[in-house]
Amino acid sequence: MQLYPTDDWKVGAAIAKRAEAAGCKVIVLTVDVLARQNWETLQRLWRTDARACGECHGAGMRAFTRRKPMFEGLDVGALGSTGAQTLTWQVVSRLREAVSARIVIKGLLTGEDAKLAVQHGVDGIVVSNHGGRSEDNGRSTIEALPEIVAAVAGRVPVLVDGGFRRGTDVVKALALGARAVCVGRPYLWGLAAFGQDGVAHVLELLQRETVAAMQQMGAPTVKHLVAGMVMER
Ligand SMILES: Cc1cc2nc3c(=O)[nH]c(=O)nc-3n(C[C@H](O)[C@H](O)[C@H](O)COP(=O)(O)O)c2cc1C
Repeated sequence: MQLYPTDDWKVGAAIAKRAEAAGCKVIVLTVDVLARQNWETLQRLWRTDARACGECHGAGMRAFTRRKPMFEGLDVGALGSTGAQTLTWQVVSRLREAVSARIVIKGLLTGEDAKLAVQHGVDGIVVSNHGGRSEDNGRSTIEALPEIVAAVAGRVPVLVDGGFRRGTDVVKALALGARAVCVGRPYLWGLAAFGQDGVAHVLELLQRETVAAMQQMGAPTVKHLVAGMVMER
């Protein structure tokens, strides 16, 4: 279950506990946008759509939480935002105390943070900038991956996402020490074009390309993929 801890910890903790009680084995704590960014594309597109968002689903936080079953029965009176603008390492410690499910933190981009995450008891890390949403400094996640893998030193699995479009991209990340590669938009494009078959096809293509790249490189298993196979420029 992917958790936005919200700006009211009581709500965040209650959602996490509810997920755990429902059988959820892993909670992925998203660390993304603390302050609202100047998303120019969003603003440009907003101008092309004259509809008021709230006309369909209601306006404001109350209307939002009413539509989401995960908030049902919770006191959301103090909730200002689903984003946790005051997110600190304390939230990770509190989450660790609140649930015994595994905790994965998604959105780290430096070795320094990765070390702190391990110290605070996370069970896994997703190197991610959430598809470029949370920052646009130009450093890609594949560039951040090696320093995070080095900092973690095998203590927890390191996953990565952001811009993985081909099996050759996947192979590079696995060779640099990622345990797995995640994708966001590619399967959505498959879904938009061909529905469920499109999703299956996108995943099949990624798998096929990954295997082909491994064969081409003479790597019979993922274990045979090593950092020396990737050239940095
Ligand atoms: C439509 C959309 C909604 C997303 N919503 C969330 C979200 O609620 N929480 C989150 O952690 N990441 C969210 N993401 C980011 C993805 O989980 C993922 O990090 C990102 O899409 C990976 O990059 P890629 O799209 O280049 O593969 C979203 C991405 C998209 C495209």
